[in-house]
Amino acid sequence: MTEPISVVVTGAAGQIAYSLLYQIAAGTVFGPQQSINLRLLDIPPMMKVLDGVVMELEDLALPLLREVLPTAEPAKAFENVAAAFLVGAMPRKEGMERKDLLAANVEIFKVQGEALDKYARKDVRVLVVGNPANTNALICSHYAPSIPKENFTAMTRLDQNRAQAALAARLNVQVDKVKNVIIWGNHSSTQYPDAAHATVELSSGVKTVPSEINDNEWLINTFVETIQKRGAAVIAARKMSSAMSAAKAAGDHMRDWWFGTKPGEWVSMGVVSDGSYGIPKDIVFSFPVTIKDKRYEIVQNLPINNVAKSKLDITSKELEEERAEANNVLKK
Ligand code: NAD
Ligand code: LMR
Repeated sequence: MTEPISVVVTGAAGQIAYSLLYQIAAGTVFGPQQSINLRLLDIPPMMKVLDGVVMELEDLALPLLREVLPTAEPAKAFENVAAAFLVGAMPRKEGMERKDLLAANVEIFKVQGEALDKYARKDVRVLVVGNPANTNALICSHYAPSIPKENFTAMTRLDQNRAQAALAARLNVQVDKVKNVIIWGNHSSTQYPDAAHATVELSSGVKTVPSEINDNEWLINTFVETIQKRGAAVIAARKMSSAMSAAKAAGDHMRDWWFGTKPGEWVSMGVVSDGSYGIPKDIVFSFPVTIKDKRYEIVQNLPINNVAKSKLDITSKELEEERAEANNVLKK
């Protein structure tokens, strides 16, 4: 077993954390050899609830789990962390868009960026889950100038998992037979779930998803809208936003960042745009990436048709607007 690493989860008394903490402590994310010191950050009124979460973590009796520190102080929570799951933020309610949370949440990511800058390891890997995740990740990175921008990512893995599951259901195959579906852009209703490059493994061999589905109208309209609106559909049914699936996606995202992607496969992550595919720089945009040695590279040279191009423009424009609004909020 290796030396423990410190991992922070913010919003640790909340819904997503409740499912995420088990995955981290059990070795699903950082591997079965990696012991973990958990730092649990929440706000002062939630400290009693957090005590209950700590009791449950103890009662899991998991050998990888070493120290558990519940705290309301960012300085303690971010001390020497190697990985940060920034979950703590207000969730949206029915009828809201995720960007309606900007005013309430963006300040949190400024404060946590500053804390990461001061206290975390310089090679910390940061995953922003709290919404609006892309713009929060951008702001967080901006306030942590001593940490490379590449180390800040936003979660669109839940959208990828949703898209993969929807395609598998339509093709009537097991979910892991579908690969390389892409989420482009914002974790919002403007995102572009793109099955054009996805493949499916069948008994007759590996085929492209569009040729197997053979229904352009379904792929361009029904599929795209279903994934774009899936978060809202969960809220309408549960009266609370997705938590179990969000936690699973956060674990998937960090595990792939830590251990890399499989040969020939890519995953979608919100990363600071480097201008690939003509996307403006300095927004956090979801791209397909491959990962090796904890470093991701944006998959290049995928053909983008006119329909896809117009969808990429819409979602990048929304991200530019969110960035402007976030900057306004932070100026006030
Ligand atoms: P929740 O309300 O159950 O939990 C949020 C927790 O964050 C609460 O315990 C709250 O006290 C805490 N918190 C608030 N401000 C904080 C701060 N400054 N520091 C530390 N903790 C703080 O919400 P949830 O269901 O766990 O969702 C959390 C966030 O994740 C929401 O913004 C939600 O919209 C978002 N989300 C994102 C995705 C995604 O795919 N990116 C998926 C699901 C949910
Ligand atoms: C989701 O996609 O389920 C989350 O972002 C929560 C939400 O507000 O939809």
